Amino acid sequence: MLKKENILIVDDNYDMLELLQRNLKAQNFHTYKASSVMEAIDILKVVAIDLLITDLQMPGLNGIELIKFAEEHFPEIPKLVITGFPSVDTAVNAVKSGALDYLVKPFTSEELKKAVQNSFEGKIGTKKKSAPALLDSDKKITNYAGIVGNSEQFENLIDVIQRVKNNKATVLIQGESGTGKELIARAIHFKGSFASSPFVAVNCGGIPENLMESELFGYEKGAFTGANETKMGLFQAANGGTIFLDEIGTAPLAVQTRLLRVLQEKEVTMIGSQKAQKIDVRVISATNNDLYEMVQKGSFREDLYYRLNVVGIETKPLRERKNDIYPLIATFMKKYGIEYGKPNCTISDKAVEILVRHSWPGNVRELENIIQRMIIMCDLAIDIVDIPDYLKYQQPTEGEVLKPLKDIEKDHILKVLHAVGDNKTKAAEILQIDRKTLRQKLL
Ligand SMILES: Nc1ncnc2c1ncn2[C@@H]1O[C@H](COP(=O)(O)OP(=O)(O)OP(=O)(O)O)[C@@H](O)[C@H]1O
Ligand SMILES: [Mg+2]
Repeated sequence: MLKKENILIVDDNYDMLELLQRNLKAQNFHTYKASSVMEAIDILKVVAIDLLITDLQMPGLNGIELIKFAEEHFPEIPKLVITGFPSVDTAVNAVKSGALDYLVKPFTSEELKKAVQNSFEGKIGTKKKSAPALLDSDKKITNYAGIVGNSEQFENLIDVIQRVKNNKATVLIQGESGTGKELIARAIHFKGSFASSPFVAVNCGGIPENLMESELFGYEKGAFTGANETKMGLFQAANGGTIFLDEIGTAPLAVQTRLLRVLQEKEVTMIGSQKAQKIDVRVISATNNDLYEMVQKGSFREDLYYRLNVVGIETKPLRERKNDIYPLIATFMKKYGIEYGKPNCTISDKAVEILVRHSWPGNVRELENIIQRMIIMCDLAIDIVDIPDYLKYQQPTEGEVLKPLKDIEKDHILKVLHAVGDNKTKAAEILQIDRKTLRQKLL
């Protein structure tokens, strides 16, 4: 039976690659081949590799550079160097960069076997066993009114919340969808000194334009057809506390004008009434739109923008605060573990690693949904196989290297092969090519 470990072998010499592959296959390891450092990096990014074996001398980027890259991004992967030019210098260099040991060409299958075994056990070389995927400090979980995290950005955010929670300065929260804007608005209110007063959330995007004014400010009986009785608006309902104007970017200009007046005068006038009522409400608004750009284009009032934005909070996308990912995973595991009767469900380090690497376009909401789905589907432990494919094989977009078509083709073939457990017949079937072509394309 195939061992569960994946070994990535990197050598610019195809014969050497074949030899290593055959040898490792004979030991039942699953192997990936790369003939350059760039190819190796691409594979490291999408496949959970358990051991990296690399040649040192290669055209372009060399093996030392690959070891350095892998050491920085994948410190938990043991690294073994193969060199045809044994010198104290290269050996020292390799070990200094993070390799566990080096093997000198030519070597026997026995020597290779021993070196691989030792690498997995972290026995050889001067280097200590590599660091675990997550350091203990990464696992610290802080929860502030339901906002979970462990990143510098998270700490700055909590700091701002603490500064604003007890005063009535307006707060404008801007950021991508799913980054926790509403959660932050609630935290400001419920952690602050007006927590016992109402918190009224209004989705400005969800109210038809013609009803918005009456919803926000209320109306007097007879103010318009259908106004059969006097009705309080949401501003009055929030009196003494906080009104949260979500999706403020969608507020029509007429409503913007009235909002500005409310903020300036601290009073509201119901539709159909002559009398203004004093109100004392803190306004927190949120938007995914670039409100400043809307101001430039004339679709949002500049004076209102500044009124709403006494304190500005920008929520960072999850991909820019990777240290929050583990605490969030742990929190959602616990939450949904309890909800679905699987409180002891665990997640492997490798699976966490894949989740940390993902770019999370849907931010925390996307992460939460995925954990929820995986808890529902899994038995007692979440592992790589439980992670949806699009997360495992997603190519990084930032700093992405533009590649020739044949490399992309090879990446795709490797991806399919990996997904079917290296079953070439199955892979060829999916790719709709014959096995011979598949083999050629992999060379
Ligand atoms: N730091 C966090 N800790 C815990 N849960 C979070 C965090 N950030 C967001 N969430 C959760 O993610 C989901 C989305 O958060 P929220 O609704 O506050 O985002 P949003 O920025 O208002 O998104 P949208 O712009 O789409 O309305 C919620 O279930 C929320 O509880
Ligand atoms: Mg929201």
